[in-house]
Amino acid sequence: MDGLGKRFEATVALDDVTFDVRPAELFGLIGPDGAGKTTLFRILATLLLPDRGSATVLGLDVVRDLWAIRARVGYMPGRFSLYPDLSVEENLRFFASVFGTSLEEGYRIIAPIYRQIERFKNRRAGALSGGMKQKLALSCALVHRPDLLFLDEPTTGVDAVSRRELWDLLGELKASGLPILVATPYMDEAARCDRVALMQRGRVLAIDAPAAVGARFPRPLFAVRARDRYALIQALHAYPYTASAFPFGDELHYSDTRRDLAPVAIAGELRAYLQSKGFADAEVTPIRPGIEDAFMALMGTPQEAAG
Ligand SMILES: Nc1ncnc2c1ncn2[C@@H]1O[C@H](COP(=O)(O)OP(=O)(O)OP(=O)(O)O)[C@@H](O)[C@H]1O
Ligand SMILES: [Mg+2]
Repeated sequence: MDGLGKRFEATVALDDVTFDVRPAELFGLIGPDGAGKTTLFRILATLLLPDRGSATVLGLDVVRDLWAIRARVGYMPGRFSLYPDLSVEENLRFFASVFGTSLEEGYRIIAPIYRQIERFKNRRAGALSGGMKQKLALSCALVHRPDLLFLDEPTTGVDAVSRRELWDLLGELKASGLPILVATPYMDEAARCDRVALMQRGRVLAIDAPAAVGARFPRPLFAVRARDRYALIQALHAYPYTASAFPFGDELHYSDTRRDLAPVAIAGELRAYLQSKGFADAEVTPIRPGIEDAFMALMGTPQEAAG
């Protein structure tokens, strides 16, 4: 895609989005609510026209060649893709028939996923658990044997075990040569992609392999622990060398403005400062930045990101 743009009245949903997904690549779109992920999928799946720029899918133009594209891609929208009153099997047969094929013809490709829910094949789709619904939706997106897969937040609202199972399945599909573009708001899932695009408010902030995204973090980073986390963050904000301090799980991630001081030296000074402020139990450990740290740095402060 090249310079894709889309507005909804005053809202810029996509702003100059340009990147390519490579053959057999598992590519992740990572971004918070409203980043533009769904808008991008809808344009690539030919359900929405871009205002500007262009995109090709499997070498076909999203505006001129929409019917050819629709026949060859599998699209799993975030919500409402299944018919809740049809059974599991009826949903699959319906999606197969829309593409002029049958469940039997598509069975081999969906088997690794469908086998996990096949014993519920007579159950109404609306009565499935979140994880089973997503497996059925993925089966429905695959049953016509597409050459490319678009998955919009396939693991949102899904328990941790089903989340891992779904990602294992995506890994198998990718290994079979199927290119996949998948959106997720979960940073931990980014690590399972070959490359990711970090998106915020319609813009792509960075595109890289997951490990390389973390390495873009511009400053020394530390995990800081102390019993009173709220007082701790206030003490860090009062420290003259603080570049950023964010809650991260049950600790804080702190970055320091001093580039000319070794991380162990910074950790020692910060620990001494915190102890002088009454945090007798303060622990400061140099750490390697992950994707989430890089994303926070690219997005700016949380206040800016929310505004
Ligand atoms: N049909 C529409 N009419 C008006 N505004 C829209 C429409 N679709 C999307 N938007 C706006 O465009 C922006 C991008 O929305 P989009 O749904 O693409 O984001 P997203 O990354 O998929 O977010 P989410 O994580 O919430 O699914 C948002 O500000 C959204 O409110
Ligand atoms: Mg969305």
